[in-house]
Amino acid sequence: ISLKPYNTFGVDVSAIYFAEVNTSEELLEALNLSKTQKLPLLLLGGGSNLLLTKDFDGLVIQVNLKGISEEVISENVVLVTSKAGENWHEFVQFCLDRNYGGLENLSLIPGNVGTSPMQNIGAYGTEIKDTFVSCKVLNLETLEVEEFDHQKCNFGYRESIFKREGKGKYIILDVTFKLTTKDHSIKTEYGAIQSELQNLGIENPTIQDISKAVINIRQSKLPDPKVIGNAGSFFKNPTIPLMQFEVLKQKFSTIPGYPNGEFVKVPAGWLIEQCGWKGKQIGNVASHKLQALVLVNATGNASGKEIFDFSTMIIDSVKEKFGIELEREVNII
Ligand code: EPU
Repeated sequence: ISLKPYNTFGVDVSAIYFAEVNTSEELLEALNLSKTQKLPLLLLGGGSNLLLTKDFDGLVIQVNLKGISEEVISENVVLVTSKAGENWHEFVQFCLDRNYGGLENLSLIPGNVGTSPMQNIGAYGTEIKDTFVSCKVLNLETLEVEEFDHQKCNFGYRESIFKREGKGKYIILDVTFKLTTKDHSIKTEYGAIQSELQNLGIENPTIQDISKAVINIRQSKLPDPKVIGNAGSFFKNPTIPLMQFEVLKQKFSTIPGYPNGEFVKVPAGWLIEQCGWKGKQIGNVASHKLQALVLVNATGNASGKEIFDFSTMIIDSVKEKFGIELEREVNII
């Protein structure tokens, strides 16, 4: 089966077996099959944060568990639990329709709810760790359901236990968020949100206004994966020691940086643009013309290897010019 429809890069590789699972029974059945037949396993959610570089000699399971439930905790707090297979943005919309606050800055992020904790998805001043309470996971070794609380997930910038020690060991079944019902905390620190609200003529934004502003910003510079294959930011924004930043600043006076204690986070998009990659296409792959950090399957015919090789060229040239080693954010399979 071709996996082209199941990854947002639109890379055409194939898998020997493919199972879309809609219930936990079906999931266990598929896992049993992989165990008895000794098939390597690949789990897919929305396919929005991975790069498939070769055919997969095993069983691909697409987790399609659906359903959302709510539990009112107090006058201003509701716990909302979504099964893993819900589309992230539709889930955010569900919350906004009920006037539940906390996820509005994360509008329009591609992917499913079940993969959101893996890389602690974040945008425009918010990360899911800000509202995350817990998630239920299936332990692939014991086939028991376990609960992971906030601490156990060990979230960091684009990081969690699921990308480190727990990699390949669990399937996330559902995720619970703690949201506000009345007194929302509106996050407008991110400069782009402020200017977009100004454009829209909004002074006292509601959570729905924030969502609208974020959607406008994303649509204005991030390519829609349905139109042009991509997986969002391909690299992480690197964090470098303050000293190194000061030295770079002397040579490159316009280098942007967000200080964080003894470290500075530098936007990878800027570094890549300075190396001349923005909008540049080689073969079927390009760096997006409006956001250099996003690599795109420009013709629709790129192979995973081609995209990977393109990313290596970017890493090499950023390293050469700035002495900074970019790290890929997308999972390479
Ligand atoms: N910049 C450039 N050239 C570019 C792109 C960016 O110079 O082509 C510089 C500009 O100085 C700009 C700064 O980078 O001010 C920041 O750019 P932007 O606001 O677009 O954010 P980002 O750091 O490039 C991060 C996330 C995005 C998220 C945005 C908004 C990472 C790896 N990426 O991008 O997340 O939407 O912030 O919060 O942290 C994703 O993970 O897939 C993703 C899209």
